[in-house]
Amino acid sequence: MTNTTKINPNAPTQGSVLAVQHYTDTLFSFSLTRPAGFRFRSGEFIMLGLMGEKNGKPKPLLRAYSIASPAWDDKLDFYSIKVPNGPLTSKLQNIQIGDHVLLGKKPVGTLVLDALLPGKRLFMFSTGTGIAPFASLIRDPDVYENFDQIILTHTCREVAELSYGIELVKSVRTHEFLGDLVDGKLTHITSVTRADHPLKGRITNLLTSGVLFNHVDGGPLDPKTDRVMICGSMDMTQDTKAVVEGFGLKEGSNSAPADFVIEKAFVG
Ligand code: A2P
Repeated sequence: MTNTTKINPNAPTQGSVLAVQHYTDTLFSFSLTRPAGFRFRSGEFIMLGLMGEKNGKPKPLLRAYSIASPAWDDKLDFYSIKVPNGPLTSKLQNIQIGDHVLLGKKPVGTLVLDALLPGKRLFMFSTGTGIAPFASLIRDPDVYENFDQIILTHTCREVAELSYGIELVKSVRTHEFLGDLVDGKLTHITSVTRADHPLKGRITNLLTSGVLFNHVDGGPLDPKTDRVMICGSMDMTQDTKAVVEGFGLKEGSNSAPADFVIEKAFVG
């Protein structure tokens, strides 16, 4: 007798919820167990979700999520918005420890070291939940081996939306092993666009005005020494890409590494 059961190699696997943290009415993070054999490069994203239904039949409801933990970690971290009436996030925001979350099998993405040429400074420009892939990368020792300076910028509308990044960077600086590695190399710059904050304004404006470069060593972006990763809304990534290109940097990819890479953050 032959076994006719078809096994779909791309069918989702799952992780169970280890922790959930809510930051604001619209932002939360969670950690999942990492399935055995689940491999990825720091900065990549994966399809993630819950079982939904369509026409009365169960159907996975999946969205792209950047993995916010580094490739060496034995758990998987994610950072999410809560979209009002969003099909997935309106349910996902209620997950509890021990619940199961579906995970795609094939992590992909361009915010990876492999897509950049060697350089001295690595800038990571993020807005909102676009900080997630950088939460992975700033905890990857390879980043500190490849670059002398890592400058992570995070811009949000309101001050409370910066909390995730501030807690993350604090945990990196005080981490048993990472602490020494990042010492003197990692710079975290926060700006806010719709409230009072020491640094105000969109990343695009901070770059074009040059104000950003008052906060880092080495002056304006230079294609000879600087590499850039960009993650935020569709508009943010496109506008920031145009500004970065204005400094003479060229876009790279996994197959053709160059000076900068972009990825749209999870939106709905
Ligand atoms: P602003 O408050 O001026 O719109 P969002 O939640 O809309 O993705 O915004 C997150 C952050 O990104 C906000 O600080 C927002 O600034 C900023 N932002 C939105 N659109 C752009 C853009 N096209 N270029 C640069 N920054 C942007």
